[in-house]
Amino acid sequence: MSDKPERFIDDEGLRLDGRRVDEIRPMKVEMGVLSRADGSCYLEWGNNKVLAAVYGPRELHPRRMQKPNEVLVRYKYNMASFSVEDRIRPGPSRRSTEISKVSGEAFEPVVMTQYYPGAVIDVFAEVLQADAGTRTAAINAATLALADAGIPMKGLVSACAVGKVDGQLVLDLNKPEDNYGQADLPVAMTQDGEITLLQMDGHLTPEELEEGLEMVKKGCQQILEIQREALVSRYGNEDEEGEEAEEESPEEVPEPEEEEDEERDNSFDNEESEAENSDENDVTEEDEGEEDERQ
Ligand code: CDP
Repeated sequence: MSDKPERFIDDEGLRLDGRRVDEIRPMKVEMGVLSRADGSCYLEWGNNKVLAAVYGPRELHPRRMQKPNEVLVRYKYNMASFSVEDRIRPGPSRRSTEISKVSGEAFEPVVMTQYYPGAVIDVFAEVLQADAGTRTAAINAATLALADAGIPMKGLVSACAVGKVDGQLVLDLNKPEDNYGQADLPVAMTQDGEITLLQMDGHLTPEELEEGLEMVKKGCQQILEIQREALVSRYGNEDEEGEEAEEESPEEVPEPEEEEDEERDNSFDNEESEAENSDENDVTEEDEGEEDERQ
């Protein structure tokens, strides 16, 4: 890890990577990059490289995990072992489990879960190269992958962090700012500005928090524009598409796929999948007990 810089912001008000305090890093998006996923998106943000893949909606097995009135959205964030300076041990960690949970919840207000009772939508966010802000980068890619999969949503989710270095608020922290700064506040919000994820490391005063949230809102609006452009360039005219989407009745929403491929269907969580795959149609009370222990 690089050493702590003496200063993060120079006399001209420029940060170590040349950005102003309220500027986000350049973002590049490519949609539909995976042919076997129902929806996918590759996103670069500064030096972060993230791939999001969506599978579903499809029938959820084992059936006891189904939600009778809505679809289950599962989100799995993973950092590739080669994505950081010090190799990460493969497999889930406390950090990735926490990020998966809060990131999945960030989509709850937008995904129209009522259309697919009993089904599941799996979102995989794979960090290929990490350089601070990977959870927000992953959310930005995941929302586009969900849209690419045709999942009905009330809107997009955009995410960005704000933090504090040298006593000043800065938008979209870079690696030294994230590692050595005084605060890091990742935020995700809907296009209406409703906050769906908010975490915080470090310290901010109530006034700084208020100001930081205003800054991050502007950052999210810029990201929303990039996301919209990516969708428009893939799917055509935004207005026409928007009108069509509004008119679409629940009956016209595509049905969830029938289960075709058991391996793929249970690929979300490897630890659970092997046990569940073997007896997914024959669930006993013992299995229920094992399942509970694993959770
Ligand atoms: O990536 P994000 O800012 O969402 O999460 P973080 O936990 O604040 O991590 C900040 C950065 O530290 C990551 O983006 C990685 O570049 C780095 N990191 C690392 O090198 N090794 C880890 N095990 C975790 C994070």
